[in-house]
Amino acid sequence: MATLVLGGAGYIGSHMVDRLVEDGRDVVVVDNLLTGHRKAVPENVPFYEVDIRDKDALDKVFEAEDIDQVVHFAASSIVPESMENPLKYFDNNTGGMIALLEVMLKHQVKNIVFSSTAATYGTPEENPIPETAPQRPINPYGESKLQMEHIMRWADEAYGLKWVALRYFNVAGAKADGSIGEDHPTETHLVPIILQVALGEREKIMMFGDDYNTSDGFNVRDYVHVMDLADAHILALDYLAEGNPSNQFNLGSATGYSVKQMVEAARNATGEPIPAEVGPRRAGDPDSLVASSDKARKVLNWTPKYDDVETIIKTAWTWVQKHPHGYEDR
Ligand code: UFG
Repeated sequence: MATLVLGGAGYIGSHMVDRLVEDGRDVVVVDNLLTGHRKAVPENVPFYEVDIRDKDALDKVFEAEDIDQVVHFAASSIVPESMENPLKYFDNNTGGMIALLEVMLKHQVKNIVFSSTAATYGTPEENPIPETAPQRPINPYGESKLQMEHIMRWADEAYGLKWVALRYFNVAGAKADGSIGEDHPTETHLVPIILQVALGEREKIMMFGDDYNTSDGFNVRDYVHVMDLADAHILALDYLAEGNPSNQFNLGSATGYSVKQMVEAARNATGEPIPAEVGPRRAGDPDSLVASSDKARKVLNWTPKYDDVETIIKTAWTWVQKHPHGYEDR
């Protein structure tokens, strides 16, 4: 029996595939390669270039492979892009989930681990945020992911689909040997942009807003290492395989860092000066997002190995130095 990884050629998906292979599990990858990279997936892993909204093509994958569990990373995930093009998010994310569940249920596959997000909480009333906090997204990306959680909930009621939603906070870092890492066609994320500055590929980092309601005025986020995230997915797959009920978990480090603190941490991690400037706020950004991940630690037995941002940034720096132009250099 194999685990199907949808979006397995993307940043987080490729680290998940690596972790599953290392664990000796059979893996099948589906990715439309719009933002993913074929080179991010090992040659010997069955690979289908398929868009999850293409139900006929997806159906053929389920016909050809012996799939018993699904991990779903195949979604659009850029907050500012979602503010400009919300329909893309409702089509690819929400629509993609409906197509996927229809095909899974047709083939009697009833376990799914799904990438949800801190962005479903909107502007939280408390930090660290527990899973029980109200979910009131302030951007279409978060809204689409919340819709996806709701769709799974009703699919459980009606068809007995069992799901785990993992609500990621800010994912960063790379596999420690620097063989796979983060490479987006248009980079918008803080850590890779800072590292492009460290590398000399960009002149400076623009810090979006210094008038947020936080201790130093800069946005605060909770950074979690991509390999720790992959570990949590393995635990979630096993949790479902053991017959446990559907559930949702935050994945973060419980420690918040402001944009300014991240730039300082990157200066320490790389030894480079990294010029920074304060710019205007970016649309759709909440002040502060910090996870309470007690539930994942308790219920899934998740123990993140990377608990400090400098080490997380160092692993991303290894990838960037080895592959300054991403997968083109691989
Ligand atoms: N930022 C800058 N300058 C930049 C880029 C980002 O100051 O050039 C700031 C942002 O304003 C934000 C922080 O750095 O405060 C992190 O921004 P990212 O774009 O790296 O990440 P987001 O917080 O917008 O979103 C990420 C994921 C989402 C996920 C969210 C959950 O992309 O998928 O974390 O916390 F939902």
